[in-house]
Amino acid sequence: MKVYLSDSQETYSLGIALGQSLPPGSVILLQGNLGAGKTTLVQGIGAGLGIKDSIDSPTFTLVNEYLDGRVPLYHLDLYRLESMEIEALNLAIYWEGVEMPLGIVAIEWAEKLVDKPDNYLLVCLNYLGEAGREVEIFGTGELSNLSIGITHLSNLPLCSLRSLWLNHSNAIGNDITLFVVTI
Ligand SMILES: Nc1ncnc2c1ncn2[C@@H]1O[C@H](COP(=O)(O)OP(=O)(O)OP(=O)(O)O)[C@@H](O)[C@H]1O
Ligand SMILES: [Mg+2]
Repeated sequence: MKVYLSDSQETYSLGIALGQSLPPGSVILLQGNLGAGKTTLVQGIGAGLGIKDSIDSPTFTLVNEYLDGRVPLYHLDLYRLESMEIEALNLAIYWEGVEMPLGIVAIEWAEKLVDKPDNYLLVCLNYLGEAGREVEIFGTGELSNLSIGITHLSNLPLCSLRSLWLNHSNAIGNDITLFVVTI
């Protein structure tokens, strides 16, 4: 079975499924080279959370906050920052739930993050040019057992990331490869 995110609508749809499933406090670390689809995925997450505002890339604003959905969405982009600058920002306020209400935190260029949260969903998007994108998802803690509904993308039933891994990939260890079948 050849499976991947064949176009931006599929990236967006995966985001919707995540937005509908993720609990408050979830941190999504987005990795992938330029144009891999990170912002598209976050736009889908916003739609899945019921956010009506348009979600733009925070490359220049660093963080965009959306408060009109099921839970807040904090969308960060570390592309333009150096490690020292990132450390000085104390981004933990976005996932500690003390100064800010707990929400979904989506961080583009998360490979630059110095202090990661205890638990997170790591989403690695791989640019395949015209052929689309491939995505790998790895969850820690409770997020490793997250259930997401991807029935609108494929004929797979509602299933957990772990069972997707067991049934549809040959990943090793705790790596979870999420294969999304073309519609
Ligand atoms: N699965 C896909 N197949 C083909 N094109 C896609 C796919 N997903 C997203 N795209 C397209 O790729 C382009 C770049 O997407 P996007 O801006 O989301 O990437 P990004 O990773 O956020 O980029 P940057 O590194 O600049 O932040 C957009 O035109 C988007 O529609
Ligand atoms: Mg982007």
